[in-house]
Amino acid sequence: MRSPDAGAAGANNMSQTHNAVELRKVLRRFGDRKVLNQIDLTLRASEFVAVLGPSGTGKTTLLRILSGLDQADGGSVRLAASRSVVFQEPRLVPAKKVWENVVLGESSREAQAAALRALEEVGLTKLSHAWPKTLSGGEAQRVALARALVHEPKLLLLDEPFASLDALTRIRMHELVQQLWARHQPAVVLVTHDVDEAILLADRVLVLSNGQIALDVQVNLPKPRRKTHPEFDRLRTQLLLQLGVTVPREEALAGELAEAA
Ligand SMILES: Nc1ncnc2c1ncn2[C@@H]1O[C@H](COP(=O)(O)OP(=O)(O)O)[C@@H](O)[C@H]1O
Ligand SMILES: [Mg+2]
Repeated sequence: MRSPDAGAAGANNMSQTHNAVELRKVLRRFGDRKVLNQIDLTLRASEFVAVLGPSGTGKTTLLRILSGLDQADGGSVRLAASRSVVFQEPRLVPAKKVWENVVLGESSREAQAAALRALEEVGLTKLSHAWPKTLSGGEAQRVALARALVHEPKLLLLDEPFASLDALTRIRMHELVQQLWARHQPAVVLVTHDVDEAILLADRVLVLSNGQIALDVQVNLPKPRRKTHPEFDRLRTQLLLQLGVTVPREEALAGELAEAA
């Protein structure tokens, strides 16, 4: 029997509701494999959600459906009308200056002013006329963030945006993303493989596994978050267990130290 939802998988824009995302029984298959299998997911406006899961588990596939870049094979998809994506690589056009990369395809005075405002927000005013090849990895990723922000998205999708940055730059980017989120209040979906990053930034963490949402937990921790908080530790252990990591790092380390003593 044909599912009543089949064929209705093209993304419908939402204007009437306060939710940023409504997925119902979303299916995405590649060949015989159901990479997303009956995903139900509702995100409220301004909700900050992190998505964890082993490599190849469908995180990017989910994000592409949330962006509207890809279509589901079944189920229904409703999304906030304005959406932006930041990928792991900044994807800047080398032949365009930084500000031109922020407003690709536009060169009017208004577009330039909007680009400069967005660059100011990410702390790159001084580099607005630089060429992409002269930027550090962190700076290039800030340009990608500015490009995402310039359209004032209601849904901001981040696909492992900090994965290739060094630890210090990553901490600065965490602070920046928190500031931008507080100021603009988009709903955010952050795909990451870093459990601590998920708990530091998100109000809700999902774990994807075998095409389904295996865990969906709220993060009820005050901000700014401290990794030393007992609840942080409890959540980290819960998420690592779900990800198949049975011995949390600190415990393993404590064990090694005890053995060495
Ligand atoms: N366009 C595609 N064609 C065929 N297989 C794909 C395509 N995109 C993704 N896949 C497969 O779907 C699975 C999930 O991929 P992906 O969503 O990129 O995983 P993740 O981001 O969690 O690492 C992988 O096995 C991948 O090879
Ligand atoms: Mg991916």
